[in-house]
Amino acid sequence: MQRGRFVTFEGVDGTGKTTQSRLLGQNLEAEGIKVLILREPGGTAISEKIRDILLDASQNNMTAETEVLLFEAARAQIVREVIRPALDRGTWVICDRFMDSTVAYQGYGRGLGLELIDQLNDFAVGGTKPDLTVLLQLPPESRAERLERRHELEAADRLDGESEDFRSEVDRGFRALAAREPERFSCIETQGTKEETAGLVLELVRRVLL
Ligand SMILES: Nc1ncnc2c1ncn2[C@@H]1O[C@H](COP(=O)(O)OP(=O)(O)OP(=O)(O)O)[C@@H](O)[C@H]1O
Ligand SMILES: [Mg+2]
Repeated sequence: MQRGRFVTFEGVDGTGKTTQSRLLGQNLEAEGIKVLILREPGGTAISEKIRDILLDASQNNMTAETEVLLFEAARAQIVREVIRPALDRGTWVICDRFMDSTVAYQGYGRGLGLELIDQLNDFAVGGTKPDLTVLLQLPPESRAERLERRHELEAADRLDGESEDFRSEVDRGFRALAAREPERFSCIETQGTKEETAGLVLELVRRVLL
């Protein structure tokens, strides 16, 4: 049986990762492909518990070191418990954030440095790297507007409390990653409607993976 393909969505908060993960999943299923949509951190009982700790808005004294290790612990679990078995049985896996978010947020945003995060990521994923990473991009004003609209519906979590300076450092990290691994990364602007962007994503996936 052919191994499933592994696609991840990355990008700063509000660029449309969750929206596009769902739409790509639907579009691939419509083509008869078996798809599993996951989000990080989370996706297993253990990883969801770690997610609750990470997102708990009342924990305002978590150190950057603790934070990165919790993300990697959640990742090590979802890779072995869910992602690898799915790919092995021919199911495609779409993940809303993965290892690159840790480089961008903890490596760049929190200043822990690339080399350390690369090592921790390698340990956590053990060779299970995405076949394609879609880096979603949207100018800061539009991101802020979309997040504001969303926050009228949902409560903010611990990681939502970051400054725009932090987010722009994270964005710089993502761009650096895309430049470092151009064969794995593709950048897509999400300024259009959700459906227009989903069309661009599907076209990309067809070109690269189908
Ligand atoms: N193309 C679009 N046009 C208008 N609104 C959009 C578009 N794409 C997404 N949105 C809306 O913008 C908000 C942010 O999108 P989404 O939640 O998918 O982003 P995200 O990258 O997953 O954010 P986070 O990193 O915070 O999880 C949501 O309320 C979503 O419905
Ligand atoms: Mg999201």
